Amino acid sequence: MKDYKRTLVTAALPYANGPVHIGHLAGVYVPADIYVRYLRMRGRDVLFVCGSDEHGVPITIKARQQGCSPQDIVDKYDKIISDSFKGFGINFDVYGRTSSKIHEETASEFFKKLYDSGKFITKTTEQYYDPEAKTFLADRYIVGTCPKCGNPDAYGDQCEKCGSTLSPEELINPKSKLSGAEPIKKETTHWYLPLQDYEQWLREWILDGHKEWRSNVYGQVKSWLDGGLQPRAVTRDLDWGVPVPVEGAEGKVLYVWFDAPIGYISNTKQLLPNDWEKWWKSEDTKLVHFIGKDNIVFHCIVFPSMLKAYGDGYILPDNVPSNEFLNLEGDKISTSRGWAVWAHEYLEDFPGKQDVLRYVLTANAPETKDNDFSWKDFQVRNNSELVAIFGNFVNRAVVLTHKYFEGKVPAAGKLEAIDREALDEIPALRASLEKNLENYRFREALKDAMSMARVGNKYISDTEPWKVAKTDMARTGTILNVCLQICADLAIAFEPFTPFAAEKLRKMIDSPLEWDLLGREEILPAGHQIGAAELLFEKIEDDAIQAQLDRLARIREEREAAAKAAAAAEAAAHVEPQKAEVTFDQFEAMDIRTATVLEAERVPKTDKLLKLTIDTGIDKRVIVSGIAEYYTPEQMVGKQICILANLAPRVIRGIESKGMILMARQGDGKMRIVSPEEALVNGATIG
Ligand code: MF3
Ligand code: ZN
Repeated sequence: MKDYKRTLVTAALPYANGPVHIGHLAGVYVPADIYVRYLRMRGRDVLFVCGSDEHGVPITIKARQQGCSPQDIVDKYDKIISDSFKGFGINFDVYGRTSSKIHEETASEFFKKLYDSGKFITKTTEQYYDPEAKTFLADRYIVGTCPKCGNPDAYGDQCEKCGSTLSPEELINPKSKLSGAEPIKKETTHWYLPLQDYEQWLREWILDGHKEWRSNVYGQVKSWLDGGLQPRAVTRDLDWGVPVPVEGAEGKVLYVWFDAPIGYISNTKQLLPNDWEKWWKSEDTKLVHFIGKDNIVFHCIVFPSMLKAYGDGYILPDNVPSNEFLNLEGDKISTSRGWAVWAHEYLEDFPGKQDVLRYVLTANAPETKDNDFSWKDFQVRNNSELVAIFGNFVNRAVVLTHKYFEGKVPAAGKLEAIDREALDEIPALRASLEKNLENYRFREALKDAMSMARVGNKYISDTEPWKVAKTDMARTGTILNVCLQICADLAIAFEPFTPFAAEKLRKMIDSPLEWDLLGREEILPAGHQIGAAELLFEKIEDDAIQAQLDRLARIREEREAAAKAAAAAEAAAHVEPQKAEVTFDQFEAMDIRTATVLEAERVPKTDKLLKLTIDTGIDKRVIVSGIAEYYTPEQMVGKQICILANLAPRVIRGIESKGMILMARQGDGKMRIVSPEEALVNGATIG
């Protein structure tokens, strides 16, 4: 393994078009923060870079929906998102914004250099254009009917109903979201990065050189490369973004996936205007990108190719730890459907419990496969792991030290086998913890830390110092000394995972934050004064969990009601195809005429049938009709209707029915009687 001098850690720049949720935290930001906290403790030179990704079409759509400017949208979410990160103790060295001036300059210069050195090709293609709004339309700005499922509100890139990926060409009846006009095709020219030119180099660098990358990342890269790379457009016709800095490119901006990763560089520059280059252009820097799985191609193929094209010593990532997705209560997290636990709402609902979520998201991290978050599991992990093991152990050790030794660390006498065994487990766990953290296996690492707490908790339960104290104070002192050393270990080992509790613990026992001390046996010397006991974690009661489950149930209900309404509307809109042709004579043979209902009653023991006595102008007769679902007998009496008078009589439920009432029936079964537009005499013929 290479010996690096410093580590540059980036966390994917979140889109500033919505708040971040537990999926983001679990997939990217919590693991990145764990890694950075660990490196800092180890005294490594680290820079932790993030910021808001503020360009792209969805932001312009949101602005339009809310009747404000894209800048208003990104200002709002940049604040919500960065506050959430702070709230969870995720402390970036810099959190920048891609709408900043320094980013515009950096991204423009980057493009310009590739442009000037001939790294792009241009292509002229036909794109959809809104002739009324006089602008090209991003795929998302075109709506129409999905060719696969008939959803009338499919987008030009995707149908959210059936999940199909679409292109605008496939939509039936495409319409511009801007003006409602039918889009036309118009020629436009864009710049492309010919990724296929980098294919061989990417193969060597990743497929041959980085077999240690996570298999999900490696596998995705391999399948992209095996599928053959294509030129990728790096510009768009849009009015929100970094303007393309060359002549003749009016109305064009850099594609968001071109400018966003450059944001890592701009944000570094913003923090270190004179010193940023050593982080990006020195072989002594280890670059690590933390991302979610939908970002793999951009961070492993596109951005590295951009950096390679630029040259000038830009380094490539040493690793790209990418997580799979986190589901919520068995369902895919979805911002648009509101199916999420939002970071900022969690902070309000569970004040002071940031560590619990960090802990649960790490214990359940979707590192190798998609995983599920459930509130029940959250409660169980808090109550039976954090509270019952970690918290309980620390509390017993601290309380007993006050009870028997006035809060001073008692001296250890001769260690017995049980003491030795407990203490010896810590260095072994530390070695495993280090190895797991260095290799981005944060779930396993957390298990190691938790195992240390288990060791302590088991040790204090087995040795029972509260009983020993009745007969042997010296032995009690030895036991509590061992316990307090383990508490000091935990205050170091948990720092990356549950930083708030770890800090509280360090304050409580006045212990140091020094990785090298972890597993040493005399972190706290005899006589060292510790503070009063405080609970590290509190039990989470059922009602708090129920409130969250109720909130999700409401969202689910609303969603199901909306889906039902949509299905009903679709059924209603269904129109029967035309029937087989009939002759004029066949039509003429039917005696259709007006009539008036004289009496109406329900046919006993049926839901659907009414018995109607009607005046047809030629006679009074009875017709049995299946309209009871839509009309009450009272509503029918006195109504003028139309009937087919010469239909052969039928006996229905023992009643002879002579003729049929004309009804209009729509796709969902709803029916209405057909009446002359103005009252006529009964028996007027229709045809
Ligand atoms: N905004 C993107 C997302 O949330 C991530 C951008 S990462 C960057 O999926 F590298 F482009 F900045
Ligand atoms: Zn569809």
